[in-house]
Amino acid sequence: MQYDSVHRGQSRASLLTTERFESSYDTIAQFIGAPSRKNIILYRNTTEAINSVMYSLMTEFKDGDNVISTLMEHNSDYVPWYGLCKEILPKFGINVGCRLAKFDKETGELDLTHLKSLVDKRTKLICCTSASNFLGTKTPIKKIREIANSSGYLQPNGERKSYLLIDGAQMVPNMFTDVRELDVDFLVWSFHKMLAPFGVGALYAREELLREMRPFLYGGDMIAEGKVSLKKVEYNVLPWKFTAGTPNILGTILSAQAVKLLMDFSLNPGQYKYFMTDKILERQDVEKAMKNIEDHEKALIGEALKILREIPSIKTYGPKHPENRTSLVAFTCEHKTPVEIAEELNKLGIESRAGCHCATLAHHYYRLDPPATCRLSFYMYNDIEDVRRACLAVKKICLVLW
Ligand SMILES: Cc1ncc(COP(=O)(O)O)c(C=O)c1O
Repeated sequence: MQYDSVHRGQSRASLLTTERFESSYDTIAQFIGAPSRKNIILYRNTTEAINSVMYSLMTEFKDGDNVISTLMEHNSDYVPWYGLCKEILPKFGINVGCRLAKFDKETGELDLTHLKSLVDKRTKLICCTSASNFLGTKTPIKKIREIANSSGYLQPNGERKSYLLIDGAQMVPNMFTDVRELDVDFLVWSFHKMLAPFGVGALYAREELLREMRPFLYGGDMIAEGKVSLKKVEYNVLPWKFTAGTPNILGTILSAQAVKLLMDFSLNPGQYKYFMTDKILERQDVEKAMKNIEDHEKALIGEALKILREIPSIKTYGPKHPENRTSLVAFTCEHKTPVEIAEELNKLGIESRAGCHCATLAHHYYRLDPPATCRLSFYMYNDIEDVRRACLAVKKICLVLW
């Protein structure tokens, strides 16, 4: 492939790369049902995408406002808000509360009553995961949207509602996602969880918000051509207003191709309808592909839960029923630490992960000491035999008493 930097050169290579780069934004927009590429901003990962929202909105917060997150968040969707409320804004004499909604420790479900009780007319933003990377819980986005809508917060553009930011890192790769149907203001996720290389994460946002929001990063390429002076700097059109500096060009192109590959694998393994083509993603194909993945994952997690729950020394976390969860399961064992289990699984060629999975608040909420669980995660490339092998290995490891 011929390639050069984007938006800069007159060379054939640069023009070609620019076209591929820009059309990758279209693919990503099509995948989540966004109106256009103008709604898609690409960053390094979910974490950076959330931070970008935090920095872009920072100057809009008023003294007495609050932000709500939850106890089941990944640190990516809590620590930026902690930083904003406890470290940054107080330096400017602005006090903004950071509130955390609880979840039910037994069922792993988000406590909507508690969430609602935290919301008031000073709640600028609710930040919530759509699926916990520790509990596997899927959260009811539409109900959370209703709660956000009911706050009456007066946003700078005259809207009266709290904005809703959804951390979709565990949703977009696993479930059909339609941002217009979900009616979210911001959605973030990473492509490395959906067959792409590491290094690209996305922010979807409503166009009217992006138009008014401050850029997160300032510099080259995010400015309107020639419109830079000491008096005034004007910004590029969307989405390039939020793409300062040389972007991750190859990562972007590969992420869009990974989306196409994932669709092809799911729709018709061995046949390539989208991968390496310029085809627009048909909405019904996206829906079918993602429903296939979701159904497959439900079968996998159902089997995992069945085997793990037969092991008396094991406690699994999160919803009991596969319908209400994604295809990962975290557990603790009475006789072994999570790290011991993960190390023994590794010796058997089974990859798991021990630790708090960056869901530190939730691990403390369960008073886990050390704040750790062992987690098995399954994806579209796993089959039921992989699940059985992994869970029976856990059984063997955890039944040994000493
Ligand atoms: C729910 C959730 N949010 C956020 C993240 C952070 O993603 P990244 O490391 O790509 O920023 C993860 C990653 O595991 C996650 O599962």
